[in-house]
Amino acid sequence: MDLGRLLLAIAAVLSLTPVVCGNVVFKVHNKFKGREDRSLTAMRAHDARRHGRLLSAVDLHLGGNGHPSETGLYFAKIGIGTPSKDYYVQVDTGSDILWVNCIGCDKCPRKSDLGIELSLYDPKSSSTGNLVTCDEGFCTSTYNGPLPGCRPDLLCQYNVVYGDGSSTAGYFVKDSVQLDQVTGNLQTSSTNGSITFGCGDKQSGELGSSSEALDGILGFGQANSSMLSQLASSGKVKKIFAHCLDSVNGGGIFAIGDVMQPKVNTTPLVPSQPHYNVIMKEVEVGGDVLPLPTDVFDSGDGKGTIIDSGTTLAYLPDEVYKQLMNAIMAKQPGLKLHTVEEQFSCFQFVGSVDDGFPVVKFHFAGSLTLTVYPHDYLFQIREDAWCFGWMDSGIQSKDGKDMTLLGDLVLSNKLVLYNLENQTIGWTEYNCSSSIKVKDNSGAVYSVGAHDLSSSATLVIGRVFSVFSLFVYMLHSLL
Ligand SMILES: *[C@@H]1O[C@H](CO)[C@@H](O)[C@H](O)[C@H]1NC(C)=O
Ligand SMILES: *[C@@H]1O[C@H](CO)[C@@H](O)[C@H](O)[C@H]1NC(C)=O
Ligand SMILES: *[C@@H]1O[C@H](CO)[C@@H](O)[C@H](O)[C@H]1NC(C)=O
Ligand SMILES: *[C@@H]1O[C@H](CO)[C@@H](O)[C@H](O)[C@H]1NC(C)=O
Repeated sequence: MDLGRLLLAIAAVLSLTPVVCGNVVFKVHNKFKGREDRSLTAMRAHDARRHGRLLSAVDLHLGGNGHPSETGLYFAKIGIGTPSKDYYVQVDTGSDILWVNCIGCDKCPRKSDLGIELSLYDPKSSSTGNLVTCDEGFCTSTYNGPLPGCRPDLLCQYNVVYGDGSSTAGYFVKDSVQLDQVTGNLQTSSTNGSITFGCGDKQSGELGSSSEALDGILGFGQANSSMLSQLASSGKVKKIFAHCLDSVNGGGIFAIGDVMQPKVNTTPLVPSQPHYNVIMKEVEVGGDVLPLPTDVFDSGDGKGTIIDSGTTLAYLPDEVYKQLMNAIMAKQPGLKLHTVEEQFSCFQFVGSVDDGFPVVKFHFAGSLTLTVYPHDYLFQIREDAWCFGWMDSGIQSKDGKDMTLLGDLVLSNKLVLYNLENQTIGWTEYNCSSSIKVKDNSGAVYSVGAHDLSSSATLVIGRVFSVFSLFVYMLHSLL
């Protein structure tokens, strides 16, 4: 797989056939017609006045677990529309839009082995649902300017290609999204915000046909198109969120709001990156620092290491991967590795992996450390068989651009705090089955507890896959 070319992404494609516009469309369209300041901010400010209520802190209910041999992903439940219906979406910090499978979709999954019921969203069956046309502020700001050939009766379309080659295409709609506002200790009440999101009518790859299918993806990226940015620009929340992914019990904590407890050390985000990138400095295996060249994590472009909850495994540059594996294998010289499914290094082992293998520590700028225990970086495929979750990104990239990308495997069992207001990210080891303390906009501090939507789900042991949702860029050249 050529990671360098896995970029594609939100591409605006103007539909050639005029799209049927109901009254609702014109209503939205007319409201902003002729105004010069049709910026996202202006639209959100308008919505803020209309929807008035402050969300402040939000509690998302999580399910799933990061085991590559089980669900391999985490998902959240959100309500959309009036009346509200539930949708299950993969939580993904590596992409920027929320989308759900929509009515009329010819290749959307209808069934899931995750123990959840899938639904197709229908904007017409929601009294608050509106189609978004290509001349609206959301569309022009998402595509950084007016779309050539745009007419007021054409929809704002989108096309996102994820790092694993799967893709989703459709058109933007705007509707009320129900969220659980934190109103007390372990207490929430339902509230809603008006959000523009993708109505997916063409899915491909893993997204079109997977036994672990979900209704869509909730991108928690930094772009203005994300649900978080939309809520923030209408003044409902601060751009701060946290996740604690529980690989032991499944599910975990996902909250919007500033985390007061636990406290975390932080590292600055690399500026102007489409993802959450940080600067890695050193790798330590069993107490010994690997003798790596200082620029090895940079791919020469200074972009650093990507933190991505939508990725299951951990991808390291060739040089780092080789040294890391050698250092780990040095503690288990008798181990025989064999390759499973053409990509995983696996071995037979009986006993406690935490006793038999070294702890790995990644050191980041600002004295932030990520400690990864053997039970995190190894996953079990049979009673006596384990595989490494480390992947060599060099093998997958033809152009020698080795990236460093850390996914759920190493992010699990940690409280990870994304403070986009201050452009920092931080984490600390944490029991993700417990609770955290979150501050809302009024300054009140409340506990937010863990949820597991998937406790009833059937987990498919032995199936190994990885999803990674990298490189979602705007493709201006298509416009
Ligand atoms: C959304 O919030 C508004 C105002 O709080 C409320 O009137 C409306 O019923 C809510 N919609 C849904 C679907 O809950
Ligand atoms: C995102 O929105 C903010 C204000 O809401 C604006 O200042 C900024 O330019 C926008 N960014 C992009 C890339 O459109
Ligand atoms: C951002 O950092 C400043 C300085 O450290 C601090 O005073 C402020 O509270 C932080 N803001 C948020 C939202 O964390
Ligand atoms: C984690 O927290 C849960 C809930 O408070 C508790 O039942 C469990 O024992 C804790 N686990 C550990 C390892 O401390």
